[in-house]
Amino acid sequence: MKKKGLFILGTILLALLAAMACTGTAGVDGADGADGADGADGAAGAAGAAGADANATCDDCHNTGLELKAIQVQYAASTHASGGNFERNTDNCGGCHTGQGLALKLAGEYVMDGSADNDKIANPAPIDCRTCHDIHETGTDADWALTTTAAVVLDLGAETYDKGKSNLCAECHQARTSYDIPVTAGLVSGKIEISSSRYGPHHGPQSGIMLGVLGAGISDSASVHYTLTTDGCVECHMSDAYGSQAGGHTWSMSYEYHGSDRGLNASCKECHTSATDIPSYSFNRTTRPATNVEAIEGLMADLKAQLILAGYINDSNSVLGASGSSASSSNKLLLDLGEAEALWNYKTIQEDRSNGSHNPTYVKDMLAYAIANMTTAGYAVPTP
Ligand code: HEC
Ligand code: HEC
Ligand code: HEC
Ligand code: HEC
Ligand code: HEC
Ligand code: HEC
Repeated sequence: MKKKGLFILGTILLALLAAMACTGTAGVDGADGADGADGADGAAGAAGAAGADANATCDDCHNTGLELKAIQVQYAASTHASGGNFERNTDNCGGCHTGQGLALKLAGEYVMDGSADNDKIANPAPIDCRTCHDIHETGTDADWALTTTAAVVLDLGAETYDKGKSNLCAECHQARTSYDIPVTAGLVSGKIEISSSRYGPHHGPQSGIMLGVLGAGISDSASVHYTLTTDGCVECHMSDAYGSQAGGHTWSMSYEYHGSDRGLNASCKECHTSATDIPSYSFNRTTRPATNVEAIEGLMADLKAQLILAGYINDSNSVLGASGSSASSSNKLLLDLGEAEALWNYKTIQEDRSNGSHNPTYVKDMLAYAIANMTTAGYAVPTP
């Protein structure tokens, strides 16, 4: 029994000793092993999509060709480039006279509204490529698009001019609203009162003449050159260029050839099929036959003589007031309707400057009516 008891006790003691040995502190970690060798390179990725080239379409226009150059040279020779009246930049003038004004006019600003707010276009520029084309809007050749081709409701009279690409021209080449076409409703104490030496439709009333709506006292009548063309003004004034003298972006209708003055009549020949059939615009304008232009020049000279005889204008076409000097608000010209109509028709044909080519029949009617009115008023055409 004693031996068995000692053995049990010994076992317990050994177990205790073993348990005590297990509570000792942990040993220090061994050093890190050496790095493994680099892995093999991965396969190259697929190529990305090409980035956008901001200049890719510039050579639609800026390229090795000479078309842009040729047009720049024509434009430089034009009155749009060199006329020099672009300092007329106020809200009553700047819409037509500055390069940047047309966009404002189309947006309903810079129109002749008689307001005296005196807005001015800063740094006015001449009419140029950007006035008529959408240059640099997209940087592609879509930018040759015209800035407007919408029909034009004329400022004076509100008739609609609608002839394709020439709607652009009509925005500016139309009568101003400064003075009304004389009608019965405009009479003040039985007279038409004229209070400016510049009485008339202003310079450039061509679209109203083409449409046949600017004449006083006669029925409206659109030109065959309006009804039968697709693009109105553009068809005659921008037919194939003759150097930098006529056609294309010079907009001119005449040029000099070995010292003689010639009409640009390629467009006329589209309809007037032989040279001799071009009624007023022969190849050689210096020796042209006595036809339509001479007829209209002759009638204009007759009417001018009547108006000078009556004391209503001077030789340089300025309108005179009652006292004989320039008409003004303190020196009004008071006219019966028929004579005011005659004066209006004269000033309008003078400012149209095509000697009737824009609307031959209508212009002859305007003149015949005016001459008859002046004759009735006691101013027969003086014999030279
Ligand atoms: C639709 C034709 C057209 C395209 C496309 C075009 N341009 Fe022009 N660029 C013009 C015209 C027209 C002018 C003015 C020429 C003039 O006044 O006689 C001009 C003038 C310039 C000028 C001279 C400075 C100035 O503004 O008058 C620079 C610079 C120019 N372009 C750069 C470019 C770049 C860059 C691109 C492409 C992102 C481009 N253009 C695309 C027609 C174009
Ligand atoms: C933004 C207004 C504007 C537009 C658009 C415009 N013109 Fe003009 N045009 C003028 C002005 C203003 C003048 C006179 C410039 C000057 O004397 O400074 C003129 C001058 C002219 C002349 C020259 C007259 C002369 O005495 O030599 C012709 C021809 C002409 N324009 C035809 C056209 C035709 C055709 C179009 C259409 C393709 C057109 N114009 C578009 C405003 C315009
Ligand atoms: C509706 C457009 C329009 C408005 C508004 C306008 N003009 Fe003009 N003006 C023209 C056009 C077009 C011509 C060129 C006509 C032509 O050559 O047959 C012109 C020509 C002129 C000329 C040149 C005449 C010459 O014989 O050389 C002067 C100066 C002028 N305008 C002054 C003015 C003034 C000042 C105003 C503002 C009070 C004004 N214009 C408003 C369209 C306009
Ligand atoms: C007064 C308005 C006006 C101005 C200013 C003007 N253009 Fe034009 N341009 C036109 C009209 C209108 C046409 C269309 C002619 C036609 O169809 O016969 C045109 C046609 C063109 C064309 C042919 C377009 C095509 O689609 O093929 C080019 C190119 C051009 N113009 C370049 C110019 C350049 C360059 C300038 C400046 C140096 C300029 N234009 C200034 C009115 C203008
Ligand atoms: C049937 C062809 C034809 C049409 C269409 C036409 N014109 Fe003319 N235009 C002429 C002729 C011809 C002259 C006289 C030129 C001359 O005798 O030197 C002229 C003269 C002019 C003048 C005087 C300055 C110059 O160059 O002699 C202006 C400005 C003018 N036209 C603008 C216009 C405008 C703007 C339109 C459209 C509203 C237009 N024309 C439509 C043929 C045309
Ligand atoms: C779209 C066709 C067309 C074009 C383009 C055209 N004409 Fe006409 N023109 C006519 C028609 C049609 C008549 C009326 C019939 C006639 O009298 O021959 C006419 C009549 C005339 C008249 C009046 C004739 C008279 O005896 O009273 C004159 C002047 C005239 N044209 C000049 C021109 C000039 C100048 C040009 C070129 C700058 C031109 N025409 C371009 C179709 C055209």
